[in-house]
Amino acid sequence: MKKRIAVIEGDGIGPEVTRQAVRILNAIAESFNHEFEYTYCLMGADAIDKTGTPLPDETIEICLKSDAILFGAIGHPKYDNDPTAKVRPEQGLLKLRKSLQLYANIRPVSTYSSLFHLSPLKSKNIEGVDFIIYRELTGGIYFGKKETSADGNQASDDCSYSREEIERIAHLAFQHAQKRKKKLTLVDKANVLETSRLWRKVVQELASQYAEVAVDYMFVDNASMQIIVNPKQFDVILTENMFGDILSDEASVISGSLGLLPSASIGKSSALFEPIHGSYPQAAGKDIANPIGSILSAAMLLDHLDLKEEAQVVRDGVNWTLLNSFVTKDIDPVNFYFTSTIGELISDFVSGKISGSVNTENIELRKSTII
Ligand code: IPM
Ligand code: MG
Repeated sequence: MKKRIAVIEGDGIGPEVTRQAVRILNAIAESFNHEFEYTYCLMGADAIDKTGTPLPDETIEICLKSDAILFGAIGHPKYDNDPTAKVRPEQGLLKLRKSLQLYANIRPVSTYSSLFHLSPLKSKNIEGVDFIIYRELTGGIYFGKKETSADGNQASDDCSYSREEIERIAHLAFQHAQKRKKKLTLVDKANVLETSRLWRKVVQELASQYAEVAVDYMFVDNASMQIIVNPKQFDVILTENMFGDILSDEASVISGSLGLLPSASIGKSSALFEPIHGSYPQAAGKDIANPIGSILSAAMLLDHLDLKEEAQVVRDGVNWTLLNSFVTKDIDPVNFYFTSTIGELISDFVSGKISGSVNTENIELRKSTII
């Protein structure tokens, strides 16, 4: 199978984690006889530095022509503390989401028994946690009218949703729930917000088309608490843009490291895959960032291309490294392996070079404490 993949390495640790994901995709291509053709393009602070804009038109064109997009990370500290900056890296990502109509952001949350000790939650509460967040990504307060008064002392951001915007992502979430534990939780603030009342109405109406899916409704303040006290209760969470942004970061710490989690942003004809972590500028160029969020994003990309077996091999490779304590510094600050070593190990796994017993001595040699 031949596929075109647009690669946006982005800012901070984006390039180094994305390179490992590409390495794994190359190993998959070789083992399964596929051809992946990569086109590199710019977005974010990197694009501002090189072209003056956070999202050059060329990037949109390349993405539109691709079967999937692999993205690293966005953001640079020089813009974060400057509220007056007119051009910001994040504008690139928001514009790309809007231009490609990537309306559904999908973030799976699961736990690994070998990492239970890293979670801020008690092991008994996180064993078996496995849920998925469907966050609306191209509407709501993120894209509403924004205004600041002439004197600069008042500002507003409008939040608006249409039935159509809600329906299209709700269908995806219901369909996914049907294939999973058949439970869907709509998270909103329907006791206060008009937009939330529309979400509730539309989801209630759609529920009759998915009779086997149990639907419940939760206010966002309560949901933020429930994700901590009893995360096992969730299967599919459906929510609007801003609530999803906040809840998905909250949920990401359950597994023990933000560096592990992948995401997919799906539209009608484009799909983008990125780790959920940020650009982590303090670690950039040091080969210490965790590449697993990016590698699992590549697994989601393979799933999207309907390469299910290939995606599973990548996930098996990731599980194998975690079970054998081949982990980066965020997971084990003393005995850690480098970003590139983890990529190499998973790539070797995918290529069938690691079977049953591993030559741990060779791997030990690449451990940070020895090098
Ligand atoms: C995310 C990020 C983005 C968002 C930023 C970088 C604009 O936090 O993908 O969750 O708020 O959507
Ligand atoms: Mg976010």
